[in-house]
Amino acid sequence: MESRKILVTSALPYANGSIHLGHLVEYIQTDIWVRLQKMCGHHCVYVCADDAHGTPIMLRAQQEGIKPEELIAKTKAEHEADFSEFLVDFDNFHSTHSEENRQFAEDTFKKLQDKNLINTRSVVDLFDPEQKVFLPDRFVRGTCPKCKAEDQYGDNCEACGATYTPADLIDPHSALSGATPVEKENLHYFFQLGKLEEELKTWTQSNSLQPEISNKISEWFEDGLKDWDISRDAPYFGFEIPGAAGKYFYVWLDAPIGYMASFKNYCDRSGEDFDAYWKADSETELYHFIGKDIAYFHTLFWPATLMGAGYRKPTNVFCHGFLMINGQKMSKSRGTFIKARTYLNHLQPEYLRYYFAAKLGPGVNDLDLNLDDFQQRVNSDVVGKLVNIASRCAGFISKKFDAKLSASFSTECKQAFAAASAANEEIKAHYEQRRYAEAIRSIMKIADQTNQLIDQYKPWEKIKDENCRQEVHQICSFGINMFRLLIGYLKPVLPELAGKAEDFFNDELTWADLASGETLPEGHTITKFKPLMTRIESDKIEAMIEETKQQASTQATAVAASDPIDSEISFDDFAKLDLRVARISKAELVEGADKLLQLTLDLGEATGGLQKNVFAGIKSAYSPAELEGKLVVMVANLAARKMRFGLSEGMVLAASGDDSGLFVIHPDSGAEAGMRVK
Ligand code: MSP
Ligand code: ZN
Repeated sequence: MESRKILVTSALPYANGSIHLGHLVEYIQTDIWVRLQKMCGHHCVYVCADDAHGTPIMLRAQQEGIKPEELIAKTKAEHEADFSEFLVDFDNFHSTHSEENRQFAEDTFKKLQDKNLINTRSVVDLFDPEQKVFLPDRFVRGTCPKCKAEDQYGDNCEACGATYTPADLIDPHSALSGATPVEKENLHYFFQLGKLEEELKTWTQSNSLQPEISNKISEWFEDGLKDWDISRDAPYFGFEIPGAAGKYFYVWLDAPIGYMASFKNYCDRSGEDFDAYWKADSETELYHFIGKDIAYFHTLFWPATLMGAGYRKPTNVFCHGFLMINGQKMSKSRGTFIKARTYLNHLQPEYLRYYFAAKLGPGVNDLDLNLDDFQQRVNSDVVGKLVNIASRCAGFISKKFDAKLSASFSTECKQAFAAASAANEEIKAHYEQRRYAEAIRSIMKIADQTNQLIDQYKPWEKIKDENCRQEVHQICSFGINMFRLLIGYLKPVLPELAGKAEDFFNDELTWADLASGETLPEGHTITKFKPLMTRIESDKIEAMIEETKQQASTQATAVAASDPIDSEISFDDFAKLDLRVARISKAELVEGADKLLQLTLDLGEATGGLQKNVFAGIKSAYSPAELEGKLVVMVANLAARKMRFGLSEGMVLAASGDDSGLFVIHPDSGAEAGMRVK
């Protein structure tokens, strides 16, 4: 078999946050694929890096009162430890804030310029007249032009989901100084993608991209390829554009170039030939594993960058869907925004690797981690079926047969072994095509058949009969050989378990061994069997959720501390507010609204039984049923506002921190609807 030369990447995680279970879908998926290739004897290199540039990283460092360089160094160490404990085995993990990346980014930009693919033009940007800086969208806040929700970001409204530009905001203000931004002409650099349209079309059509992705790309082509804005203004954390003081490469320009930079860094250590993998006519293969949210960058911008700069194009881009937990988006308040580290504090990494593999397919569908199913599935498959085969057979071999295996079997067992070995082709193809769930299904079917055969022979009974000695030796040796095959098939998913099992067999498994159809030789000695994996206990999962909830509440406190108090108001301003206790007499879902609940608020007898209709953005945190009958505090004299879904006649007070949950304020017991809140 011809050995392939393959370079594989996973997307580069941002350096402003921890790795969480959602990320791990991707890194585990990629790692399994790479391990399979290596096991099959191919030359496969897996590189990644931290994505260290951009505004959010700069802001995060500011918040923590450290330099961005310190933040990214700290995060890189954390990410590397997380990945290594999850057995994600990169050949190299680098950073986009590296000398290699600066050189490749500058050089690529120059090549694009030489080919006339870059132009500049003036754009009207918002400018902070006090801080004297141009403001990125996220730095402008104001009232949503659609639903009039206050204090929304400059690019989209969190209350109604509308998207717009900062110039559309009502009463816009700078998040840096509070000043009203002014419009000012600003020079931007653009990558003229349209000039590469034909070449891009050829690439997208000549490759077997996933159908969902091909469809998306066709839509993008239909809409027409617009120039891509690749410059950002100081203050920015990134690489300054040569010859353009105060202008920086937009993070998404140098991020994918980070794949090359990490590989270059690897070449310099290992002697691998960089050009062989990246020159335009390279015969090696290049695959990018990514989430569906960043397909645009990887199937348009990135191939265009490579084309423009005279490099090879990706062989393929593999997109996966998003992780859901218990059927819902990961959420801090539900305790399901689980960090890699929090998981590791309670559970073994291979449980999750197995579960993800058992659920991953080749498409872009989202994947659900149902925690009950996770526990049940891992316990029943890995512990109950797989490890059970070894624990049933190994003891007899060690105690009764001097730890030596027999190599002769009944016809039935011989056939079962031959069939299981022949299945290697199909299992390998499943892995290669990223049909991991199918691979796992095939493997578990073999485990079931093996357990059934052992059940039929009942070695634990026959061992009592001296005449059946040979038969017991054979069935147990058969079990051990089947176990070895199964472990081999699962080695890309469960490398640590496989490693322990290899010690037990005194043997290291390659795919060729599994395909050979040969059993271990007569008299092969096994070492003492130790339990390879224990069951997942419920309390471990509960403790992990509890710890995650705990983090959400400490984080809420930290966010509050970094969230300065607004400017002063007079007592008269305050006295204008009519705050009242109200009873939620009805709470309903609003069709078509992601975040809103419709509340009917009863203001009690003091107000003559006044009822108010209010749309509140609290759907993420509450179900209608749990709100009905509860007392809340409302702003009762707020002018009614027309919203997309109807008239809103007030506001309900709730506490919230950025992304860390939402908590409606309730008066203490004894309060009644209609009472004033002072
Ligand atoms: N920095 C960019 C990628 C640059 S690649 C040149 C980025 N970083 S990320 O940290 O937000 O995400 C890294 C990868 O993890 C992406 O492929 C993303 O799709 C994936 N995931 C992040 N959250 C995820 C889930 N909740 N579920 C599944 N994958 C997710 O994007
Ligand atoms: Zn809005």
